[in-house]
Amino acid sequence: MKRRKILKLSSGALIALPACSSKKGDQAPAAGKQSGANPSGPQTQPVRLGANTQYRPPAYVNKGLRNPNMNLPSQFNGQTVTHSRGLSNQPYVAMTFDDGPHPQNTPRLLDILRTRNIKATFYVIGGNVDRYPHIVRRIVAEGHEIGNHTYTHRKLTSLGDSEVRKEMRRTEDAIVRAAAVRPRTMRPPYGALLQRQRSLIFSDFTYPTIMWSVDPNDWKRPGPSVVRSRILSGAHNGAIILAHDLHAPTIDAMPGTFDGLLSKGYQFITVSQLLAQKGQA
Ligand code: NI
Repeated sequence: MKRRKILKLSSGALIALPACSSKKGDQAPAAGKQSGANPSGPQTQPVRLGANTQYRPPAYVNKGLRNPNMNLPSQFNGQTVTHSRGLSNQPYVAMTFDDGPHPQNTPRLLDILRTRNIKATFYVIGGNVDRYPHIVRRIVAEGHEIGNHTYTHRKLTSLGDSEVRKEMRRTEDAIVRAAAVRPRTMRPPYGALLQRQRSLIFSDFTYPTIMWSVDPNDWKRPGPSVVRSRILSGAHNGAIILAHDLHAPTIDAMPGTFDGLLSKGYQFITVSQLLAQKGQA
């Protein structure tokens, strides 16, 4: 939701290359780069790509605390334009992650979610979707939900209607291009959206506006243990929990947060599943 990292190509071509693979021990992309560097060369030898051959899905952990498989309905057709929480009489919560996808932190989060069989909802920035479409595909392939968080992460309250529509449309198009799914909900950057704009987006795109009921302020980087304890103490039935998958300390906080919520008896579902329950109530 907060503070988008702008890609900086600060001092020109010499520094530009390492900027996109700044992670430690990142050997695989080098092979990919070599092969892709000169695709038009007539004598290019077929190159065996090494990328991802080292990847193994993480094993399940904490068998006793694993989130159950839940084939709950996710269709909703209510007329409520804004939602901040789900039903209060059932122990379901929705984890939401804004501002990604991020090239290192989002895959790490996906591994953590996978080991616990937890499905989350990702409010992605359209520009990041176009930069990292393969991560969006992985998010969808692993059963998570994608929501629209605008293309440029501007404050929508200062934009005209046509610009708001453009932010929504460009992001939806990017998500469809990347993963062939259409988002069904939106979250405004900074939580800033006029009531009139919410209605406009609802009628034009059928997106309800999704706010939240638990905010650990993780974007201020208070440290993983503070993020975890804020979420654990704020959690409640039907909670929509806000976090950001572009911050490494937030990802660090998630194993303990997820395990803590599971041990309190909460079960994780997506935002659409939470809304579908409200529709049935
Ligand atoms: Ni945001």
